[in-house]
Amino acid sequence: MFAVIEGIEGSGKSTLQAGLAEALRARGRNVTTTREPGGSPLGDAIRTLFLAPGPPIDSVAEAMLVNAARAQHIAALIRPALQRGEVVLCDRFVDSTLAYQGYGRGLDLRMLRSLCSLAVGTLAADVTILLDCEPNLSRHRLAERGAARDRLESENLDFYERVRGGFLTIARESTRHVVLNGSDSREALVAAALSAIEGMEAHV
Ligand code: TMP
Repeated sequence: MFAVIEGIEGSGKSTLQAGLAEALRARGRNVTTTREPGGSPLGDAIRTLFLAPGPPIDSVAEAMLVNAARAQHIAALIRPALQRGEVVLCDRFVDSTLAYQGYGRGLDLRMLRSLCSLAVGTLAADVTILLDCEPNLSRHRLAERGAARDRLESENLDFYERVRGGFLTIARESTRHVVLNGSDSREALVAAALSAIEGMEAHV
């Protein structure tokens, strides 16, 4: 089972991922948690370059960086874990590229889909949980964390409105997406995500 959690920064992805992993392990499942960009030494190095504040990075270069990290992530970690029969819970996947580089930056979605398909091959998420969150709430949560904003987090609210809208459009066009409200309680979100994963497993 390959389950992906998507949403803008501060939507609660990491909290949900941790709660979901704990709930699945309590049910006897082997779970691998991971994130993008990241998930391998190469992916982590790309993540550092990608998020570091500094001179602007061209949007096509952004799309290629995340997909280079993704190809390595799949080969080194995701496919082997799926082959061992584990549940892989991944914080962000292809939808993030479509939402950020497509809807956010304005790159052509068809071009992005073909770039992503080069990285992922036949792999697709079995279920994607989208934590929908208003950009204002996201800003508020990031400020509460107190960490300095990274390169993407420094984008304006209009950019985040476009990214949020992109995620919602992608979810509307799919039968494998479940949209949850990022302002719901941790317990409610874990329960809803768990039932989405188990419901999808029953159909696979
Ligand atoms: P986060 O996972 O800690 O939220 O940070 C990852 C950042 O990278 C976030 O701003 C979204 C961005 N990103 C893209 O722009 N495109 C992608 O394909 C991925 C995976 C992430």
